[in-house]
Amino acid sequence: MALEVRTARHEELEAAFAIRREVFCGEQQLFADCDQDEHDHSAVHLVAVCDGVVVGTVRLYERDAGVWVGGRLAVRSDNRGAAGFELVRHAVREAALRGAQVFLAVVQVRNERFFHRLGWVTVVTTEGVAGVPHVLMKAPDVRLRERGARAS
Ligand SMILES: CC(C)(COP(=O)(O)OP(=O)(O)OC[C@H]1O[C@@H](n2cnc3c(N)ncnc32)[C@H](O)[C@@H]1OP(=O)(O)O)[C@@H](O)C(=O)NCCC(=O)NCCS
Repeated sequence: MALEVRTARHEELEAAFAIRREVFCGEQQLFADCDQDEHDHSAVHLVAVCDGVVVGTVRLYERDAGVWVGGRLAVRSDNRGAAGFELVRHAVREAALRGAQVFLAVVQVRNERFFHRLGWVTVVTTEGVAGVPHVLMKAPDVRLRERGARAS
């Protein structure tokens, strides 16, 4: 299984949105029938591609100068088991390369440990979404990662 994470090509965006719909509207029922919002127009969309098929996605956008927000992380249920970590790592790296000083995400509490394993820290408990508890989390120092990324 060859897994690649990269910026979505135009023709891959529909597949990424379909996965989000499947996961956030179907599986988790956080939204009724569409999870897309105004941030999708300006966001950078990353996809995880396995043997030519889009299996996961995450988006990131600049909320304020230097402050980037990641979200809508989703991996197709049949393909879980590798893409999640890679999508988050790439999102942090992408934000750093685009000048992020801080990278944040509002994360479901059930996934808090997943992000802790990647070095993220919990900042504060936030309002839930559709009754599902969430926390605001912050990525490890994105500027250090940027220097690492440029050196490699
Ligand atoms: C969360 C999600 C993206 C993880 O995707 P994935 O491809 O299974 O992730 P990975 O396999 O890269 O996970 C890496 C490790 O974290 C573990 N892990 C996965 N989900 C976890 C969770 N919720 N809590 C703790 N650990 C978790 C995996 O078991 C794996 O551990 P291992 O390396 O010891 O085997 C996926 O489960 C998903 O799409 N969930 C539904 C949508 C969702 O909840 N999105 C996040 C919104 S905040």
